[in-house]
Amino acid sequence: MTVNGKRKVFSGVQPTGNMHIGTYLGAFRNWVKLQHEYEAIYCVVDLHALTVPVDPAELHRNRIEAVKVLLAVGIDPDKSLVYMQSQVPQHAELAWILGTMTPTGVLNRMTQFKEKSARAGANLGLYSYPVLMAADILLHRADLVPVGDDQRQHLEMTRDVAERFNNRYGEVFPLPEALIPETAARVMSLTDPRAKMSKSDPNPRSAILMLDTADDIRKKIKGAVTDSEPTVAHDWDAKPGISNLLELMSAATGRPVDALVGEYAATGYGVFKEAVAEAVIELAAPIKARYGGLDDKEVAVLLEKGADDARSSAERHQAEVRAAVGLDGV
Ligand code: AMP
Ligand code: TRP
Repeated sequence: MTVNGKRKVFSGVQPTGNMHIGTYLGAFRNWVKLQHEYEAIYCVVDLHALTVPVDPAELHRNRIEAVKVLLAVGIDPDKSLVYMQSQVPQHAELAWILGTMTPTGVLNRMTQFKEKSARAGANLGLYSYPVLMAADILLHRADLVPVGDDQRQHLEMTRDVAERFNNRYGEVFPLPEALIPETAARVMSLTDPRAKMSKSDPNPRSAILMLDTADDIRKKIKGAVTDSEPTVAHDWDAKPGISNLLELMSAATGRPVDALVGEYAATGYGVFKEAVAEAVIELAAPIKARYGGLDDKEVAVLLEKGADDARSSAERHQAEVRAAVGLDGV
């Protein structure tokens, strides 16, 4: 959908604390870039965060922290609309309507649901999580959705439900496209390079947090699980740990993986890991510095305005959906 000649970008992040470098490289970095070319809307999806048990005081804190991280990575509130999902009730309303046209067979196939329910047990919110995500995107008629690789399946489902809606009720939703980076779209855990780096991993050494100190970063990368064969090479099957570090360094420095392999193939893992650590420190330092300078009160003011703007735009769009399905007026 084009507004004032600009296409729309939308994305969301759960306020679950422990924002890590995977979130930054997989998603936020593109959010920052796209805000210059698109009408940009970025949402802290706090209703999604309720799908696993969470302490209310912690959730409250994490919501503000998430917004501060967004500002620290370079989201500019003059360019992007930033708000909390729960402040805009149209998300939940549209999710209900889309839920009525989402086959349970489709939801049963969602990898993230299968993984999370195996770990934490299933609930209806977790099951319908992708429907609320589809509603987030379609509510704003987004064209482009910058996310990490783990969201690919949810984006495909979003397009399918949009198509189903359009076929039944007329062309209301543009079909959104996922934007997934070429390198570091799936940053892996440092302690288990066959698993995704994740906020919910209980091992603090598995993830580099965006607010880690330089020393933490050095220690974590030094201790990253690799293999016992000492040649630096990119091979996800045989050398997942080293491949992960190569992609991290490539994404942090902008240098191609091949060039890094050429430089470090014969230096041994120690020297290579030090170089990776320094590259990541350089990437994270300005973010951490900007975060430290942010004030909670200013963030609250910004969020109030964000919620107002998001609600009025969401209401305009949602009126169109209500009319399409026959829920307008009395
Ligand atoms: P979440 O924190 O789960 O709400 O994720 C926020 C964004 O970061 C989503 O677009 C994810 O796809 C992305 N993301 C999360 N973890 C990773 C990872 N390990 N590697 C790359 N992208 C990630
Ligand atoms: N499911 C996404 C994640 O875990 C977060 C999310 C919710 C989202 N709604 C969204 C991402 C809409 C993009 C667009 O990362």
